[in-house]
Amino acid sequence: MDTNYTHQPVLPEEVAGLLITDKSGIYVDATLGLAGHAIKMLSVLNEGARVFGVDWDPEMAALAAKNLEPYGTRAKVIQGNFANIDEILTRENLTGITGILFDLGISSLHFDKPSRGFSLKHEGPLDMRINPANPLTAYNIINHWPYEQIEHLIRVCGEPKSNKIARAIVERRTVKPLETTAELRSLIERVIPFRGEKIHPATKTFLAIRVAVNSEFDNLTRGIQKAMPFLAKGARMGIITFHSLEDRIVKETFKIMADMGGWKMITRKPVVPSETETLQNKRARSAKLRVIEKA
Ligand SMILES: C[S@@+](CC[C@H](N)C(=O)[O-])C[C@H]1O[C@@H](n2cnc3c(N)ncnc32)[C@H](O)[C@@H]1O
Repeated sequence: MDTNYTHQPVLPEEVAGLLITDKSGIYVDATLGLAGHAIKMLSVLNEGARVFGVDWDPEMAALAAKNLEPYGTRAKVIQGNFANIDEILTRENLTGITGILFDLGISSLHFDKPSRGFSLKHEGPLDMRINPANPLTAYNIINHWPYEQIEHLIRVCGEPKSNKIARAIVERRTVKPLETTAELRSLIERVIPFRGEKIHPATKTFLAIRVAVNSEFDNLTRGIQKAMPFLAKGARMGIITFHSLEDRIVKETFKIMADMGGWKMITRKPVVPSETETLQNKRARSAKLRVIEKA
């Protein structure tokens, strides 16, 4: 297992500032990653507070556990999908938690490790599974899904040339299956030539496939709904998103929660990183943090 990967947490000060309402409380980091946010929170919290960190990726959970070793019993790592956060919290006997964080998407480790097959910059297998135990891979989608389904998922993620890309994939696979991220990237470059733009023409397709492989939108909706009853009065839920489709889900779900009553919006507008942070951390550029409180 590689241990030399790093991930710089996004909006760490803002998360700690907005999520922590009781320095002796119980906090859940539903997307623990390498534990950057969890460690930041622990540095602000009192000795008696506890942080439970969840990550779907067993490799990430193991690395986080190592990073959290110095904090002893103040932190606990659990491998699991936050879509089942109700089962996870019930197993841990946790009710009345003080705050929960969802820092969505994948970590820098996922992008930087070619064998995980997430990045269009590195050649790797068409995988893209957050939890490698899941049966559905990018390979299955690219080589077996019908044209209509591939076109639809790419279009939903905002790719205007979705039909051309889906057609090229379906035609190409009749000759030979697409095996690697580099093959998919160069196929897309043949449909939409890359002229050095800031955003590579394959970016939206790669995002769309990753979202589908990991049921990311469904997990998000379920995660929010399942976590709601476990928050104490005055507890907060914070969500960091990295693209507009995710942000729309959070914005609309929080609005429904506030309209229903029992929830108070803490961030009328999403909190975004400062210029200094975006200069230091490119990943932060598209980040948006929204926070809601149980009234
Ligand atoms: C942006 S990273 C979080 C980084 C973390 N906040 C840090 O400071 O290191 C998102 C993490 O969420 C995990 N993840 C994604 N979907 C998940 C899910 N449905 N359930 C649990 N973890 C998930 C990924 O494996 C990844 O490690």
